[in-house]
Amino acid sequence: MHCVRQVTDNLWWVGANDHRTHLFENIHPIPRGVSYNAYLLKDKQNVLFDTVDWSACRQMLENIEYLLDGAKLDALVVNHLEPDHAASLQEVLLRYPDCRIYCTEKGFMLMHQFGFHTDGHETIEVKEGDTACFGDHTVAFVQAQMVHWPEAMVTFDTTNGVLFSADAFGSFIALDGKLFKDEVNYDRDWIDESRRYLTNIVGKYGPHIQKLLKKAAPLLPQIKYICPLHGLVWRSDFDYLLDKYQHWSTYEPEEKAVMICYASMYGNTEAAAQALAAKLAELGVTNTVVYDVSNTHVSYLISETFRVSHIVLASVTYNLGIYPVMHNYLMDMKALNLQKRTFAIIENGSWACKSGDLMQDFLNNELKDMTILNERLSLASAMKEEQEDDLTSLAEAIRDSLNEVS
Ligand code: FEO
Repeated sequence: MHCVRQVTDNLWWVGANDHRTHLFENIHPIPRGVSYNAYLLKDKQNVLFDTVDWSACRQMLENIEYLLDGAKLDALVVNHLEPDHAASLQEVLLRYPDCRIYCTEKGFMLMHQFGFHTDGHETIEVKEGDTACFGDHTVAFVQAQMVHWPEAMVTFDTTNGVLFSADAFGSFIALDGKLFKDEVNYDRDWIDESRRYLTNIVGKYGPHIQKLLKKAAPLLPQIKYICPLHGLVWRSDFDYLLDKYQHWSTYEPEEKAVMICYASMYGNTEAAAQALAAKLAELGVTNTVVYDVSNTHVSYLISETFRVSHIVLASVTYNLGIYPVMHNYLMDMKALNLQKRTFAIIENGSWACKSGDLMQDFLNNELKDMTILNERLSLASAMKEEQEDDLTSLAEAIRDSLNEVS
């Protein structure tokens, strides 16, 4: 049975939702699912823009078959070769032998590397600025290297103002019937998962997102729809979306806010983190969140770290090092190129307290443009009543630093 949505005249969403995959890229939890978006243009020629993950192949094929109603598929535009979008392309080619393929040079290389056979199909290698006409619709191809793979491109339909944006502007969360951003309560239900998707999947490549945004800027007055490969289609509020991307891709915090992340074995470091949160609230700092790194998947920690301006790392010492899950969180910050944050440190150790110095060294030496507050809270097994002044000093330093943020 088909399940399609019309995007605009002659253009349909023919993708599928996935609630059965638990880990996106076999690493990031997706408790609310994900969509794989493909789009079908019916012009004098019928054109499919991207395919879907293998798990969604059957639904996409039924959608295409329904809309084509016996007509042939003339062309397949492959904007991104990652298998969550390209895994089904072989099935499309098998069913539509007259289908020619548009893709970048690196895209064709990856296509063959993944084992897809294009024999018998016309292949058209496109590069920046090339165009293709399918009847009334003419599209232009724009390279989008490293957003999120080196072969990626975006395609702009100059006739109806549709930007097929590949991974850019995508999101976790299955569509479940809705398609457009204006059909959901985005600020309530979607923004956190959009941020988690972008920062964890493409966060490392902020400068490349910036490059794409600059290339897209002259097109903005003509863009009517942004059609990503995951999540909602945008047909309004582009400024809101672009503002978020500007923050995420330049590593600027979205909010003056404090995130307290603790790594605690027996609850003592946790107690200090909670005491700090309470002290901050007494000082009027209430835009705070507290996370236990041991029971929060690191993708959520990363997403929140991109959102806030201030992060408190509270870690027990473990094997004379940083507690492993806290270390993993720090390593992910490095891998995803996080910059421009202010940190405070709480350390704990029962006989050799090392975690504070080690975390500080990591922040100073492995990450870029980080500020570390001088006030550090140092615990020997547990925080004592006589350390309340130290706790207050740390909370006041965080409050004062927050007030300095413009
Ligand atoms: Fe959704 Fe980079 O693939």
